[in-house]
Amino acid sequence: MRSAANSFLVAVQFMTRLPVSRGVRYSPDALAKSAVFFPAIGLLVGAGGSALYWLLSPHASRDVIVVLILVYLVTVTGGLHEDALGDAADGLGGGWEKERILAIMRDSHIGSFGTIAIALGLLARFVFLTNLAPGKFIGFFVAAQVLGRWTTLPLAFFLPSARANEAGQGKLIAHRITALSLGAGTILALAIVAVALKAEALWAALVAVMIAAVSGLYYWRRIDGITGDCLGATNQITEIAIMTAIHGRKQSALSEFSRTEKRGLYKAIYKRRDVRGHFLPDPVSQRLLRKLLDSAHHAGSVGFMQPWSFIVIRNPDIKRQVKDLFEQANATAAAVFEGKKSELYSKLKLEGILEAPITLCVTCDPSRNGPHVLGRNTIRETDVYSTCCAVQNLWLAARGEGIGVGWVSIFEPAQLKRFLQIPEHVIPVAYLCLGYVREFLPRPELEITGWLPRIPLEDLIFFERWGEKNGK
Ligand SMILES: Cc1cc2nc3c(=O)[nH]c(=O)nc-3n(C[C@H](O)[C@H](O)[C@H](O)COP(=O)(O)O)c2cc1C
Repeated sequence: MRSAANSFLVAVQFMTRLPVSRGVRYSPDALAKSAVFFPAIGLLVGAGGSALYWLLSPHASRDVIVVLILVYLVTVTGGLHEDALGDAADGLGGGWEKERILAIMRDSHIGSFGTIAIALGLLARFVFLTNLAPGKFIGFFVAAQVLGRWTTLPLAFFLPSARANEAGQGKLIAHRITALSLGAGTILALAIVAVALKAEALWAALVAVMIAAVSGLYYWRRIDGITGDCLGATNQITEIAIMTAIHGRKQSALSEFSRTEKRGLYKAIYKRRDVRGHFLPDPVSQRLLRKLLDSAHHAGSVGFMQPWSFIVIRNPDIKRQVKDLFEQANATAAAVFEGKKSELYSKLKLEGILEAPITLCVTCDPSRNGPHVLGRNTIRETDVYSTCCAVQNLWLAARGEGIGVGWVSIFEPAQLKRFLQIPEHVIPVAYLCLGYVREFLPRPELEITGWLPRIPLEDLIFFERWGEKNGK
């Protein structure tokens, strides 16, 4: 236990400028032994950067925060990895023969390749960190720190030191990592990354493995092994590659949704249908119903008023009486149409109250949260609009779950209220029929039956003022 703690402290001392107690014990293979903790150092450094992000986010713009995080990174690590990247770029970019490459790497002066590599490395991290989606920042930041440092383990396990007769940090570690350390360090890294990234962890880990493998092969071909600078360079490149790959997956600052998720969202919108005649009797679980109601409950509402309530009605007797109320109101509604429209109206099925296993009355309480609701002083109906937003949320979520929803509005509201014992001041906004369905029609039923066509979108868009059609 004490030796593990000592190894951890050696790793902290080697990889950071954090003050470590004087009691650290060194042995010739202390650094190699400490390598198992390198991913944990990534976690430590990543946690510091994440804390900065979390503390500063309410007060500063993302680009300012990222600059501060980069300053933090180079300060806490003493620029260890940037220095290594610069030296490796100078050596591998400027040298041809192995001996020359190693000599340039050791040279304390910085050359043009090194300058370019460090500058591009910082720039790339600035751009990618600035554009990481808000909900993903901490996860990807920590994962990049952890996996970057993890790459030292396989590189040093598989490759020898490139400096046969000279000392160097690479020599302290190359070919001196045990299979146990490699395995334990890898499990540690994967565990941290799995917590940080969940489903995307595997994919980030693959990027790290690929960079370690490709850079390892490259070092082997060029200089027959590794140096400390090579290890630091791969560390930096992996960090950047993980962030670059996120960009490849189009995770922009404004959208946390993957392409597939976005497709799913639009699919629900376009394939949502009002369902009346295609309900199946299959029961809808309590859990799923709760999920749908919770989606409704997460709708926008004026002044966060949340004026909605939901009456879940499954009882066939109650449903039958609600159906009677519909029949009465529908007889009056049908009478307003004449000729062909009247004929067509009589053929339309306008509710599925008895067929749907669940029906829901969604109500709006205009008195909820007192007489003064933020944003509702002038347009009083915003309470009802909010309730409609809740219905739409439920409608879309239900479509995603394969549940059909039909909105029935043909009721005399006073009658429905009385029957459902809804208080006088509460408005019944929607009566919904819910259940699994035989099919979702490809287009609105009222469009298919020729009641009305869909209006071209262009006819509904004006620019700057009502009626103005010439917009760019
Ligand atoms: C506020 C509202 C009330 C509705 N009332 C009824 C109704 O009483 N009966 C009915 O058959 N459909 C009703 N509908 C469903 C519409 O007819 C349907 O949404 C429209 O024809 C478009 O079809 P789609 O929802 O399948 O795209 C209502 C829809 C809304 C938004």
